[in-house]
Amino acid sequence: MQDIAPRSFYAVHLPAPDDFDFWRERARALVQCDVPPDRVVWIEPGATGDLFGAGEFGRREKRLPVPGAQPRPVRASRAFLKLAQNAALHRDPGRFALLYRLLWRLQSQSRLLEDRADPDVRRLEELDRTVRRDSHKMHAFVRFRRVEYTGEDGQAGEHYVAWFEPEHHILRANAAFFVRRFANMKWSILTPQGSLHWDGESLAEGPPARREDAPTGDPAEDLWRTYYASIFNPARLKIGAMLKEMPRKYWKNMPEAALIPQLVAGAQAREASMVERGGMEDGERPGTLEEVAAAIDGCRRCPIGLLDNRAVPGEGPLHAALMIVGEQPGDQEDLSGRPFVGPAGHLLDVHLERAGIARDRAYVTNAVKHFKFVPKVVQGRGKRRLHQSPAAKEIDTCRWWLESERAAVKPRLVLAMGASAARGMLGKTVSISKARGQPHRLDDGSELWVTAHPSYLLRLDGEAREMQERLFDADLAAVAERLAELEG
Ligand code: URA
Repeated sequence: MQDIAPRSFYAVHLPAPDDFDFWRERARALVQCDVPPDRVVWIEPGATGDLFGAGEFGRREKRLPVPGAQPRPVRASRAFLKLAQNAALHRDPGRFALLYRLLWRLQSQSRLLEDRADPDVRRLEELDRTVRRDSHKMHAFVRFRRVEYTGEDGQAGEHYVAWFEPEHHILRANAAFFVRRFANMKWSILTPQGSLHWDGESLAEGPPARREDAPTGDPAEDLWRTYYASIFNPARLKIGAMLKEMPRKYWKNMPEAALIPQLVAGAQAREASMVERGGMEDGERPGTLEEVAAAIDGCRRCPIGLLDNRAVPGEGPLHAALMIVGEQPGDQEDLSGRPFVGPAGHLLDVHLERAGIARDRAYVTNAVKHFKFVPKVVQGRGKRRLHQSPAAKEIDTCRWWLESERAAVKPRLVLAMGASAARGMLGKTVSISKARGQPHRLDDGSELWVTAHPSYLLRLDGEAREMQERLFDADLAAVAERLAELEG
């Protein structure tokens, strides 16, 4: 006979829709008490258990069990926790149940995450991807409007306010990004989910807001418009792709979007004139290194700028006689926002010192300003961002910025390390072995020297490594000598 007695279940009431730590703690205790996923209902604030299928269980909600004094260990790899933490921000009401089901299954199937065909694993990856995309949109499309005010002390002040409508529960998870990026401003980000307020020192959370609570325009918008019009590239106009990356709902908040119809209308004519002018783009070159840094930060001319990364500008003295060019920032450069600070940078430092070249007197930069990578779960090492070489057309696109830096710094000698850097400088692919050891004259009379990339050396070992390091030393010694002559 079929058992029709109402079955008991455990209801976990989450205090907030993005409270992953709470889920994690409760999920852990439930696994330790051996509670299978079909006996647990996860309930977000404002929702009822029935929405999550609690009705199926009848009405017998049980008190949550408490693990004994010596609970069994719970298996959860860092890779899973990282994915789960991000996926928990998705608005799918079933996400916490999915995460618990996965955690439960991981106890007996430790390699479950490797099974890409498993529907739960696929769903987890999908949620993670969607949330990352939403966060990325928030980084790219939040636009602050300036509000001037007079404080209680009679002093005039300014506060920047942005309105944003995230699709998922990503607001709090992205607070640190905005604090880092706009540390010196006072700002508020208002959303229908809640608000964040930064006073230059501390962050506070506030209640949900309405669009009307945010100002709608200020003079700073003219700057955005000018900037956007200058980076808009008609040759790459793809309306479908643009809408995908920047759905219309965000356009309202973006001052530069007011230009889109006009820019689209003029795109064909501008493209034709670009072709005539040999591919040169419209818009003025940024004149200072600060302008280059600000412009690359918002650069979306190629898909690398759409990844979850940040622009890494060059660094060094404004009129450095030597400019050193690498390929693109790596993982550590992306995290720190500075070029050559990871393993390749350490190796470079060793060889520069050996050649007597002071790194802090050189302007150090990259051919491509954003880190290109593919995310990958590496067994035992969690989720990694694996370096991918930039494509030739991405290097060519980024040349605009490299050339802008060169125009500002005006180095006497440029050292390009590796094929991407050489292409960035010359606009064509050259063979390192043929190009190294001799100067190549650049349009402004300065010299380009080419050598291998330190990451290439890092990938070698044994005799091959020794040989390449010797060649690298010889190239740097020649550069040091030439630089001394040029600086005379
Ligand atoms: N590799 C590069 O080409 N550039 C960096 O900044 C770091 C590693």
